[in-house]
Amino acid sequence: MSSLWHRVDESLAERDASGLRRTLTARSAESTLIDLSNNDYMRLSQHPEVIAAGQAAMAKWGASAAASPLISGYTEAHAELEARLCQWAGFSSCLVWNSGYAANQAVLGRLPQRGDLVLADRLIHASMIEGVLHSGARLQRYQHLDLGHLESLLEQHTGDERDVFVLTESVFSMDGDYPDLAAMAELKARYGFIWIVDEAHAIGWYGAKGSGLVEEAGVAEFVDVLVGTLGKGLGSMGAFTLFRKVELREYLINFANEFIYSTYLAPASAAAASKAVEIAEAMTEERVQWRQRSRDFRSAIAEAPDGDSPIVPVLLGPADKTMAAAQELLMSGFRVGAVRPPTVPANSSRLRISLNTGLTEGQLEQLTAVLQEVAR
Ligand SMILES: Cc1ncc(COP(=O)(O)O)c(C=O)c1O
Repeated sequence: MSSLWHRVDESLAERDASGLRRTLTARSAESTLIDLSNNDYMRLSQHPEVIAAGQAAMAKWGASAAASPLISGYTEAHAELEARLCQWAGFSSCLVWNSGYAANQAVLGRLPQRGDLVLADRLIHASMIEGVLHSGARLQRYQHLDLGHLESLLEQHTGDERDVFVLTESVFSMDGDYPDLAAMAELKARYGFIWIVDEAHAIGWYGAKGSGLVEEAGVAEFVDVLVGTLGKGLGSMGAFTLFRKVELREYLINFANEFIYSTYLAPASAAAASKAVEIAEAMTEERVQWRQRSRDFRSAIAEAPDGDSPIVPVLLGPADKTMAAAQELLMSGFRVGAVRPPTVPANSSRLRISLNTGLTEGQLEQLTAVLQEVAR
């Protein structure tokens, strides 16, 4: 047998033996389940004006960008989205990407280089890790949210490396917590690193204008690259990067293969996202209300940590217990994420409950009651 087939069989058998084999299930549009598994926090994927903007752009541009961006895939719909995002978040320069995964791989694969040092929160997303590994820079992790540890690594840094980068998510995707960004900005002022913040799960939910935790903490002027996604709080598809210095945009346009050699994001997705930004900006009351609902919901579930983000982890530990709890919730009409290793560390399997502004109070109460039963 060829070594490929041998490796495939062995790897899948290992997953079976550990009970961690993943399977893919197609979701039905007719499903009546209450869905708390997606990242559509502001419910904008279902907003009639967002849908109408996407439909109008599809009628105008067709279903595809039909080319990579440097050839002819970059359209006025993409340029308008960039301008809107810059204005929203207070940055001077923006670039739109096909996905957050591609954006992170490109930014972290191209900006740091061999000879640089990258200090990253221990729990940052796989897309950032992969980028850094590709860059050849030295990667060191600091304990999750532990800025004392980050500072000690900054102090220990001997100055041998050319540049130091610091990477964090704002809201962490599997834990729903976030670092003290104002304190990180102070560290930046003291140590002078290049600061990259992934706001994938904060966009829409935080900030007076809804552009995220960087806005809320008032630290936009310290952030060198802000990575955001369009497919989560903005209910569309794709991603963006905001730059403090316009030269970084030019550099990535010239050197990021993820950008250069891929058919560009459909104009309809860009137009839907532009409309979503406009609507998200005005959702001030929803933001206040839903952060409070997040706090209240968490306080009723013993296994959930305090917080106010849309991501509520319900920590159950063993993978089989987590899968069984998710199944019981399904039987009660709720779809939630069940997250197991290797996505999260061993014995920290959890239900990942994503709140969204479309849920009713009655549904949340019902969910709380079911969770209290199944989490035992
Ligand atoms: C923190 C973070 N960054 C980036 C991504 C990737 O974004 P996308 O889904 O647009 O590829 C994710 C995806 O879940 C994420 O959680």
